[in-house]
Amino acid sequence: MTGHVLITGGAGFIGSHLTDMMLERGFEVTVLDCLSPQVHGDAEMDVDGWPVYLNPGAHRIRGDILDDGVFEGALSGVTHLCHLAASVGVGQSMTNIVDYTRNNVMGAAVVLETLSRVPHTVQRIAVASSMSSYGEGEYRRIDGSAVAPPTRGHDQLARRDWELELEGESLAPVPTSEDKPLQPTSIYAINKRDHEEMFLSVGRALGIPTIALRLFNVYGSRQALSNPYTGVAAIFISRLINDQPPLVFEDGEQRRDFVHVHDVANAFATVLESDLRIWDAFNVGSGQAVSVNEMAFTLAHLLHKNIAPRILEQYRVGDIRHCFADIGKIERVFGIRPERSFEDGMAELIDWVRVARKPTDRSEACLQELSVSKLVV
Ligand code: UD1
Repeated sequence: MTGHVLITGGAGFIGSHLTDMMLERGFEVTVLDCLSPQVHGDAEMDVDGWPVYLNPGAHRIRGDILDDGVFEGALSGVTHLCHLAASVGVGQSMTNIVDYTRNNVMGAAVVLETLSRVPHTVQRIAVASSMSSYGEGEYRRIDGSAVAPPTRGHDQLARRDWELELEGESLAPVPTSEDKPLQPTSIYAINKRDHEEMFLSVGRALGIPTIALRLFNVYGSRQALSNPYTGVAAIFISRLINDQPPLVFEDGEQRRDFVHVHDVANAFATVLESDLRIWDAFNVGSGQAVSVNEMAFTLAHLLHKNIAPRILEQYRVGDIRHCFADIGKIERVFGIRPERSFEDGMAELIDWVRVARKPTDRSEACLQELSVSKLVV
């Protein structure tokens, strides 16, 4: 199936890769993007203010979906919608609550209300949700039973006691499946849960198949390297390139699922192209658990920097300890499997970093700001 896909946030990191992939698969592509300075500030832009990496084969509309008529104006001839536009910093969302909620929740509301009010040709919707809505990942007790523990409290974290426990028993992290109850711990995560539920509910009411993809920690080329609020791989790269040690929260043994942007774009492209009439949420991860320390050492090695991370033994409020994906459901339903290993994916990221503009390291200022707001303790 081909058609015309509208990608909101299409000039961003994930959106631009999806743009390339949809064009390759024969779709017409329109990118709608507000070109937020926090995301695009340090990227190389063309004379019209668009990032130079954006595929010239796509139509471009610069605008904010919150502004009157912008989204409606972009809908002409569109058969497939992929909604990626969002503000995406977890720590920042805890202070810029109005902005985040306006951009994310009201942004989704504008998109959905427009689809329900105006005549259009949209037949299929995909929306970016996030692993953040899980809160803590899934764990097992000693007897093997599954458990979704509450997030760690301030008292526990103040003791620098990082691992999860339940009634004095230590818990072992296991892959998190879509059935795990959602326990969002930040405004960003709450916004993303709302996003997902709003899209699934209105998509169902309108009879338009809608798929929410719960993205795990996405990395790869075109990632915003100088945005200190988002993406540990990018943050560590900008530290290392500037000959500074990565700043590691807790003890660095917390684990995440780092999924390469190629696999994320492939997941969006595949669910958009499919003709399954469903309304559901799916994990998009690598299925592999990697610690923050491993990330720091791998990056130092690939960048040829003999710089060890600085373990802060401080915690970022709202951070979870471990979360990595059970990727079985998306494979069973859509046949999607990750294609990039951590090693190959990281090598692709570093190849791009070598030719990208040198990032500005803003980590210390960001850490200072989060400490003043009592968001790093
Ligand atoms: C969060 C969201 C995720 C979102 C991602 C990018 C949660 C649970 N997940 O992931 O949905 O896609 O942000 O916005 O809210 N770290 C350091 N030093 C740093 C930066 C980070 O040690 O300078 C650590 C963090 O404490 C965390 C890990 O690295 O343990 C990953 O952090 P980050 O890349 O910000 O993403 P998450 O918080 O996992």
